[in-house]
Amino acid sequence: MKQQPNSDLINELLELAFGIARKAGELLTNRPDSFDINQKSSARDFATHMDHASEKLIVREILEARPNDGIIGEEGAARVSTSGITWVIDPIDGTVNYFYNLPGWNISIAAKDEEGVLIGVVYAPTLNSLWHASRGGGAFLNEKAIYVSQADALSDSLIATGFSYDLAERVRQGEFIASLIPRVRDIRRNGAAAVDLCHVASGAVDGYFETGLKEWDLAAGGLIAREAGALVSGRNGQEAGEAMVIAAGPALHALLTSEIG
Ligand code: IPD
Ligand code: CA
Ligand code: CA
Repeated sequence: MKQQPNSDLINELLELAFGIARKAGELLTNRPDSFDINQKSSARDFATHMDHASEKLIVREILEARPNDGIIGEEGAARVSTSGITWVIDPIDGTVNYFYNLPGWNISIAAKDEEGVLIGVVYAPTLNSLWHASRGGGAFLNEKAIYVSQADALSDSLIATGFSYDLAERVRQGEFIASLIPRVRDIRRNGAAAVDLCHVASGAVDGYFETGLKEWDLAAGGLIAREAGALVSGRNGQEAGEAMVIAAGPALHALLTSEIG
Protein backbone atom coordinates (compact mmCIF):
# COMPACT_ATOMS: atom_id res chain seq x y z
CA MET A 1 0.00 0.00 0.00
CA LYS A 2 1.48 3.36 -1.06
CA GLN A 3 1.81 5.95 1.67
CA GLN A 4 -0.32 9.10 1.43
CA PRO A 5 2.14 11.71 0.08
CA ASN A 6 2.95 14.71 2.27
CA SER A 7 1.09 17.65 0.74
CA ASP A 8 3.52 20.34 1.97
CA LEU A 9 6.38 18.48 0.30
CA ILE A 10 4.38 18.01 -2.90
CA ASN A 11 3.51 21.72 -3.06
CA GLU A 12 7.12 22.69 -2.42
CA LEU A 13 8.41 20.37 -5.17
CA LEU A 14 5.72 21.45 -7.64
CA GLU A 15 6.31 25.17 -7.06
CA LEU A 16 10.04 24.67 -7.48
CA ALA A 17 9.55 22.65 -10.68
CA PHE A 18 7.13 25.25 -12.15
CA GLY A 19 9.61 28.08 -11.55
CA ILE A 20 12.54 26.14 -12.96
CA ALA A 21 10.63 24.90 -16.02
CA ARG A 22 9.59 28.48 -16.83
CA LYS A 23 13.17 29.75 -16.47
CA ALA A 24 14.47 26.96 -18.72
CA GLY A 25 11.64 27.74 -21.16
CA GLU A 26 12.75 31.38 -21.33
CA LEU A 27 16.36 30.35 -21.93
CA LEU A 28 15.34 27.98 -24.74
CA THR A 29 12.80 30.29 -26.36
CA ASN A 30 15.65 32.72 -26.93
CA ARG A 31 17.06 30.65 -29.81
CA PRO A 32 20.72 31.02 -30.74
CA ASP A 33 21.71 31.81 -34.35
CA SER A 34 23.79 28.64 -34.58
CA PHE A 35 24.18 25.41 -32.64
CA ASP A 36 27.16 23.48 -31.28
CA ILE A 37 26.23 19.84 -31.64
CA ASN A 38 27.55 16.70 -30.06
CA GLN A 39 26.62 13.27 -31.39
CA LYS A 40 25.34 10.65 -28.92
CA SER A 41 24.29 7.05 -29.64
CA SER A 42 24.14 7.56 -33.46
CA ALA A 43 24.22 10.29 -36.13
CA ARG A 44 20.48 10.71 -35.53
CA ASP A 45 20.92 11.18 -31.78
CA PHE A 46 22.53 14.45 -30.78
CA ALA A 47 22.47 17.17 -28.16
CA THR A 48 23.01 20.89 -28.75
CA HIS A 49 24.77 23.34 -26.47
CA MET A 50 21.25 24.47 -25.49
CA ASP A 51 20.46 20.99 -24.06
CA HIS A 52 23.53 21.39 -21.86
CA ALA A 53 22.71 25.01 -20.93
CA SER A 54 19.16 24.04 -19.96
CA GLU A 55 20.36 21.11 -17.82
CA LYS A 56 22.94 23.34 -16.10
CA LEU A 57 20.26 25.91 -15.23
CA ILE A 58 17.85 23.25 -13.93
CA VAL A 59 20.48 21.54 -11.77
CA ARG A 60 21.73 24.84 -10.33
CA GLU A 61 18.20 25.92 -9.39
CA ILE A 62 17.29 22.57 -7.81
CA LEU A 63 20.44 22.44 -5.70
CA GLU A 64 20.12 26.07 -4.61
CA ALA A 65 16.70 25.25 -3.18
CA ARG A 66 17.26 21.63 -2.08
CA PRO A 67 20.98 20.84 -1.77
CA ASN A 68 20.45 17.28 -0.46
CA ASP A 69 18.35 16.02 -3.36
CA GLY A 70 19.62 13.60 -5.97
CA ILE A 71 19.57 14.30 -9.71
CA ILE A 72 19.43 12.15 -12.85
CA GLY A 73 19.71 14.25 -16.01
CA GLU A 74 19.87 13.16 -19.63
CA GLU A 75 22.95 15.24 -20.38
CA GLY A 76 24.98 13.73 -17.56
CA ALA A 77 23.86 15.29 -14.29
CA ALA A 78 24.15 12.58 -11.64
CA ARG A 79 23.93 13.12 -7.91
CA VAL A 80 23.01 10.74 -5.14
CA SER A 81 20.18 11.86 -2.86
CA THR A 82 20.59 12.15 0.88
CA SER A 83 17.08 13.62 1.34
CA GLY A 84 15.07 10.74 -0.17
CA ILE A 85 14.07 12.87 -3.19
CA THR A 86 15.69 12.46 -6.63
CA TRP A 87 14.91 14.68 -9.62
CA VAL A 88 14.69 13.13 -13.07
CA ILE A 89 15.11 15.73 -15.80
CA ASP A 90 15.10 15.97 -19.56
CA PRO A 91 16.39 19.50 -20.26
CA ILE A 92 15.02 19.43 -23.83
CA ASP A 93 12.74 16.57 -24.74
CA GLY A 94 12.38 16.77 -28.53
CA THR A 95 15.82 18.11 -29.41
CA VAL A 96 15.25 17.41 -33.11
CA ASN A 97 12.09 19.57 -33.05
CA TYR A 98 13.98 22.27 -31.15
CA PHE A 99 16.86 22.19 -33.64
CA TYR A 100 14.48 22.53 -36.62
CA ASN A 101 12.35 25.13 -34.82
CA LEU A 102 9.30 22.88 -34.86
CA PRO A 103 6.83 23.06 -31.94
CA GLY A 104 6.40 20.53 -29.17
CA TRP A 105 9.86 20.39 -27.59
CA ASN A 106 9.56 20.64 -23.85
CA ILE A 107 11.28 20.63 -20.51
CA SER A 108 10.42 17.55 -18.46
CA ILE A 109 11.01 17.61 -14.70
CA ALA A 110 9.97 14.91 -12.22
CA ALA A 111 10.83 14.22 -8.59
CA LYS A 112 10.67 10.70 -7.18
CA ASP A 113 10.86 9.14 -3.73
CA GLU A 114 11.30 5.51 -2.70
CA GLU A 115 7.74 4.71 -3.87
CA GLY A 116 8.08 6.16 -7.37
CA VAL A 117 7.41 9.43 -9.14
CA LEU A 118 5.88 11.98 -6.78
CA ILE A 119 5.44 15.02 -9.04
CA GLY A 120 5.84 15.66 -12.75
CA VAL A 121 5.93 18.90 -14.74
CA VAL A 122 6.15 19.13 -18.54
CA TYR A 123 6.42 22.60 -20.05
CA ALA A 124 6.13 23.18 -23.81
CA PRO A 125 6.41 26.95 -24.45
CA THR A 126 5.62 26.58 -28.17
CA LEU A 127 2.28 24.96 -27.26
CA ASN A 128 1.56 27.40 -24.39
CA SER A 129 1.16 24.28 -22.29
CA LEU A 130 2.24 23.47 -18.76
CA TRP A 131 1.12 20.02 -17.63
CA HIS A 132 1.55 18.78 -14.10
CA ALA A 133 0.55 15.98 -11.78
CA SER A 134 1.29 14.72 -8.30
CA ARG A 135 0.87 11.16 -7.08
CA GLY A 136 -2.76 10.75 -6.08
CA GLY A 137 -3.49 14.42 -6.87
CA GLY A 138 -4.77 14.32 -10.48
CA ALA A 139 -3.38 15.76 -13.69
CA PHE A 140 -3.69 19.30 -15.04
CA LEU A 141 -3.02 21.30 -18.20
CA ASN A 142 -2.57 25.01 -17.48
CA GLU A 143 -4.26 24.43 -14.08
CA LYS A 144 -7.33 22.69 -15.57
CA ALA A 145 -7.99 19.03 -14.69
CA ILE A 146 -7.50 16.68 -17.65
CA TYR A 147 -8.71 13.17 -18.39
CA VAL A 148 -7.74 10.45 -20.80
CA SER A 149 -10.04 9.63 -23.75
CA GLN A 150 -12.46 6.73 -23.41
CA ALA A 151 -11.74 5.38 -26.92
CA ASP A 152 -12.52 1.67 -27.08
CA ALA A 153 -11.95 0.77 -30.73
CA LEU A 154 -8.75 0.93 -32.75
CA SER A 155 -10.66 2.28 -35.75
CA ASP A 156 -11.72 5.37 -33.74
CA SER A 157 -8.30 5.98 -32.20
CA LEU A 158 -5.60 8.52 -32.97
CA ILE A 159 -2.32 6.93 -31.93
CA ALA A 160 0.99 8.68 -31.28
CA THR A 161 4.31 6.94 -31.51
CA GLY A 162 8.01 7.64 -31.97
CA PHE A 163 10.90 6.10 -33.82
CA SER A 164 14.14 4.92 -32.30
CA TYR A 165 17.59 6.39 -32.94
CA ASP A 166 18.66 2.78 -33.65
CA LEU A 167 18.24 1.87 -37.36
CA ALA A 168 17.37 -1.83 -36.93
CA GLU A 169 14.72 -0.89 -34.36
CA ARG A 170 13.38 1.78 -36.75
CA VAL A 171 12.85 -0.83 -39.44
CA ARG A 172 10.90 -3.05 -37.00
CA GLN A 173 8.84 -0.05 -35.87
CA GLY A 174 8.09 0.86 -39.52
CA GLU A 175 6.84 -2.67 -40.22
CA PHE A 176 4.59 -2.63 -37.17
CA ILE A 177 3.18 0.80 -38.10
CA ALA A 178 2.50 -0.47 -41.64
CA SER A 179 0.36 -3.25 -40.16
CA LEU A 180 -1.46 -0.91 -37.74
CA ILE A 181 -2.15 2.16 -39.87
CA PRO A 182 -4.97 0.66 -41.99
CA ARG A 183 -6.84 -0.17 -38.76
CA VAL A 184 -6.60 3.06 -36.75
CA ARG A 185 -7.96 6.58 -37.29
CA ASP A 186 -4.42 7.83 -37.91
CA ILE A 187 -0.88 7.91 -36.55
CA ARG A 188 1.02 10.94 -35.19
CA ARG A 189 4.79 11.29 -34.74
CA ASN A 190 5.06 14.55 -32.84
CA GLY A 191 8.73 14.26 -31.84
CA ALA A 192 8.64 14.58 -28.07
CA ALA A 193 7.79 11.63 -25.84
CA ALA A 194 6.87 13.66 -22.75
CA VAL A 195 4.31 15.67 -24.73
CA ASP A 196 2.99 12.47 -26.34
CA LEU A 197 2.26 11.15 -22.84
CA CYS A 198 0.66 14.48 -21.84
CA HIS A 199 -1.45 14.33 -25.01
CA VAL A 200 -2.72 10.94 -23.88
CA ALA A 201 -3.52 12.54 -20.51
CA SER A 202 -5.67 15.29 -22.04
CA GLY A 203 -7.27 13.15 -24.78
CA ALA A 204 -5.40 15.07 -27.53
CA VAL A 205 -4.45 11.61 -28.75
CA ASP A 206 -6.19 8.40 -27.70
CA GLY A 207 -3.09 6.30 -27.17
CA TYR A 208 0.68 6.18 -27.46
CA PHE A 209 3.35 3.52 -27.65
CA GLU A 210 7.09 3.62 -28.16
CA THR A 211 10.21 1.57 -27.46
CA GLY A 212 13.52 2.91 -26.23
CA LEU A 213 12.29 5.55 -23.77
CA LYS A 214 14.67 6.41 -20.97
CA GLU A 215 13.70 7.29 -17.41
CA TRP A 216 13.85 11.05 -18.16
CA ASP A 217 11.49 10.68 -21.15
CA LEU A 218 8.91 8.82 -19.08
CA ALA A 219 9.05 10.06 -15.47
CA ALA A 220 6.97 13.26 -15.61
CA GLY A 221 4.73 12.42 -18.59
CA GLY A 222 4.05 8.91 -17.29
CA LEU A 223 2.75 10.23 -13.97
CA ILE A 224 0.65 12.88 -15.76
CA ALA A 225 -0.91 10.24 -18.02
CA ARG A 226 -1.64 7.89 -15.08
CA GLU A 227 -3.13 10.63 -12.95
CA ALA A 228 -5.44 11.49 -15.87
CA GLY A 229 -6.72 7.90 -15.88
CA ALA A 230 -4.41 6.21 -18.39
CA LEU A 231 -2.81 2.84 -17.94
CA VAL A 232 0.91 3.09 -18.63
CA SER A 233 2.70 -0.25 -18.99
CA GLY A 234 5.19 -2.25 -20.99
CA ARG A 235 4.40 -5.36 -23.07
CA ASN A 236 1.82 -7.75 -21.57
CA GLY A 237 1.29 -5.66 -18.47
CA GLN A 238 4.96 -5.50 -17.54
CA GLU A 239 6.35 -2.30 -16.07
CA ALA A 240 6.76 0.55 -18.58
CA GLY A 241 10.38 1.14 -19.52
CA GLU A 242 12.96 1.06 -22.26
CA ALA A 243 11.60 -2.18 -23.76
CA MET A 244 8.12 -0.67 -24.32
CA VAL A 245 5.72 2.01 -23.15
CA ILE A 246 2.00 1.69 -23.94
CA ALA A 247 -0.24 4.50 -22.63
CA ALA A 248 -4.00 4.82 -23.16
CA GLY A 249 -7.34 4.67 -21.39
CA PRO A 250 -8.15 1.16 -20.08
CA ALA A 251 -10.15 -0.15 -23.07
CA LEU A 252 -7.72 1.04 -25.74
CA HIS A 253 -4.75 0.04 -23.59
CA ALA A 254 -5.99 -3.57 -23.65
CA LEU A 255 -6.39 -3.47 -27.45
CA LEU A 256 -2.97 -1.90 -28.02
CA THR A 257 -1.34 -4.35 -25.62
CA SER A 258 -2.73 -7.31 -27.52
CA GLU A 259 -1.67 -5.79 -30.90
CA ILE A 260 1.85 -5.05 -29.71
CA GLY A 261 2.22 -8.47 -28.07
C1 IPD B 1 13.39 11.86 -27.78
C2 IPD B 1 12.01 12.36 -28.12
C3 IPD B 1 11.40 11.54 -29.25
C4 IPD B 1 11.38 10.07 -28.91
C5 IPD B 1 12.74 9.58 -28.50
C6 IPD B 1 13.30 10.42 -27.36
P1 IPD B 1 15.19 13.64 -26.89
O1 IPD B 1 13.93 12.59 -26.70
O2 IPD B 1 11.17 12.30 -27.00
O3 IPD B 1 10.06 11.92 -29.51
O4 IPD B 1 10.94 9.39 -30.07
O5 IPD B 1 12.59 8.25 -28.05
O6 IPD B 1 14.59 9.96 -27.04
O7 IPD B 1 16.36 12.81 -27.33
O8 IPD B 1 14.78 14.65 -27.89
O9 IPD B 1 15.31 14.16 -25.50
CA1 CA C 1 13.70 12.92 -24.31
CA1 CA D 1 16.63 15.40 -24.23
